[in-house]
Amino acid sequence: LPTKTIKSILESLAINNEVEVHGWIRSIRTQKNVSFANVNDGSSLKGLQVVLTNDEAKKLTTGACVKMRGILAKSPGDGQSKELQAHYVEILGECDSTYPLQKKYHSMEFLRDNSHLRPRSNTFGAIVRIRNTAVLGFQNFFQKNEFFQIHTPIITSSDCEGGGEVFKISANRPKETTENFTRKEDFFEMPVYLTVSGQLHAEMLACAMSRVFTFGPVFRAEGSLTSRHLAEFWMLEAEIACLFKLEELLYFTERCIRETTRYILDGCTQDIEFFDQRMNKELIARLENTTNNPFSCLSYSEAIDILSKANQKFEHTPKYGCSLYSEHEKYLATDYCRGPVFITDYPREIKPFYMRVNSDGETAACTDLLVPDIGELVGGSLREERYDILEQNLKESNMIQENYQWYLDLRKYGTVPHGGFGVGFERYLQYLTGVENIRDVIPFPRAASYCKY
Ligand code: 4AD
Ligand code: MG
Repeated sequence: LPTKTIKSILESLAINNEVEVHGWIRSIRTQKNVSFANVNDGSSLKGLQVVLTNDEAKKLTTGACVKMRGILAKSPGDGQSKELQAHYVEILGECDSTYPLQKKYHSMEFLRDNSHLRPRSNTFGAIVRIRNTAVLGFQNFFQKNEFFQIHTPIITSSDCEGGGEVFKISANRPKETTENFTRKEDFFEMPVYLTVSGQLHAEMLACAMSRVFTFGPVFRAEGSLTSRHLAEFWMLEAEIACLFKLEELLYFTERCIRETTRYILDGCTQDIEFFDQRMNKELIARLENTTNNPFSCLSYSEAIDILSKANQKFEHTPKYGCSLYSEHEKYLATDYCRGPVFITDYPREIKPFYMRVNSDGETAACTDLLVPDIGELVGGSLREERYDILEQNLKESNMIQENYQWYLDLRKYGTVPHGGFGVGFERYLQYLTGVENIRDVIPFPRAASYCKY
C-alpha cells in the first residue's frame, strides 16, 4: 500500500525521513506564525501532529480527509515525541461546519445517535482496536492449547438453549423449483432459526477432533431491554473432549480469561489507559487483579445463602430454585468477591437440557462466571454424555426428541465425557473498557425496536 499508517510512523519511522500520510482532521490550532493539525487514520489513539503554515491551515476544517507529505521531526511540544513538518497538503474530502463531531468530548448517547460517524471518535476508535486485539488474544490462547477453530452455522434447525428466544426465518423457494411441488413452497421445508449458540455443533466436532472453538454472531429475541443484552452478539465457544470434572473446566476458563486479558493489556495499553481515565473506575487495577489473582468460586446454594444474608435490599428476593437476577450477580462479583467469581452447580431445572446431572440428581455440573459491574460473562458446563439421562432431559424439557436424535447418537457411538463454555464477547469488551451500555462496544447494535442501517 502506498502510505504508512500513523501508528507505524510514530512507532518505527526514524526522524528526518520524508513520509506521506492520510487521515481525517480531528482538530486545528492556529498560533501567530504557525498552525497545528491533529490527523488521525484510526491506527492509534493519539494521531499525528502536523505543523503547517497558517495559510495552509485556513483551507482545512475539522472532519476533512487529507493527504499530506513532509519530514518527520522531533517534536518540541508536550504530548508527542514526533511531528510532521508538512510541505504538501491535499484535501481528499471536504467537511463543512455541520459535521457533528466538532468538539473533543462527546457523551456516549450523542455518539450512539451519530453511530455512522462515531468510529471517528477517540472512544469508538479505541473500542474497534480493542475488539480486534481481543479476537487475536482468544485466537492465540486457543491455538497455543492445540484447539482447532471451526465454523458453526448461522442457520440451524436446533434451539440450543431450549429457551424459545429464537428468530424464526423463512423464505419461499424460487418459482421454477416449486412448479411441480405445490405443497413445498417453504425453502427448508422445516422450521429453521438463526442460531442462539454454536454449542451443539461444536460438540459434534469435539466428539472427533477433541478440542475445538468457534467464534461467531448469535441471535436472541431477548425481551430484556438492558444495558447488557443485544439481539445480535458475538460468542466465543470452546468444547473439549475428555473433560471429567467441573474443576478442570473452571481452571481452563480462568486461564482463558486471564491470559486473553493480559494479551490485551499489553497490546492495547494506550487504549485501555484512555478508558481508565474516561470511565473513572480504576479499570486498570481491576484488570491487573483479574490477570494476577485466582478467581473466587461459590456453589449456587452458597451464593443464595450469601444473598439472603446480604446487607442490601434487592428488588427480587433471592430464592433457592430461581435464576439469579443481574442485581444478585452484581452484588456477588462487585461487592462480595470484588473480582471474578464462578458460581457452580445450579439446580438443573433452571438450566438447559444438555448440562450433566450431578450425583445428587438435583443440580447440574455447570458454572456462570460473574464479573464486577456486569454480572454473567461466561456460561459453561459438563455435557450430559449418558444416553438415557440425556434422553430423559430432552423429554422433561419438552424438546422434540426426533430433532435431536443426532445429538443422542453422539452418546450412542463412542460417547465421551466432555464440556465447554461460551464467553459473551461484547460483555467481555464492557469489562475491558468499563463502558456501561453494551450498545457502545459493537459498531452496529441490534435490540428490540432498534436496527439502524
Ligand atoms: O449463558 P449462555 O446462554 O450460554 C450458552 O449459550 C452456551 N451454549 C455456551 C456454551 O457453553 N457453549 O450465553 C453465553 C454468554 C453469557 O454468559 C453472556 O455473557 C452472553 O453469552 N450473552 C449475551 N450477551 C449479549 N446479549 C445477550 N442477549 C446475551 N445473552 C447471553
Ligand atoms: Mg447463561
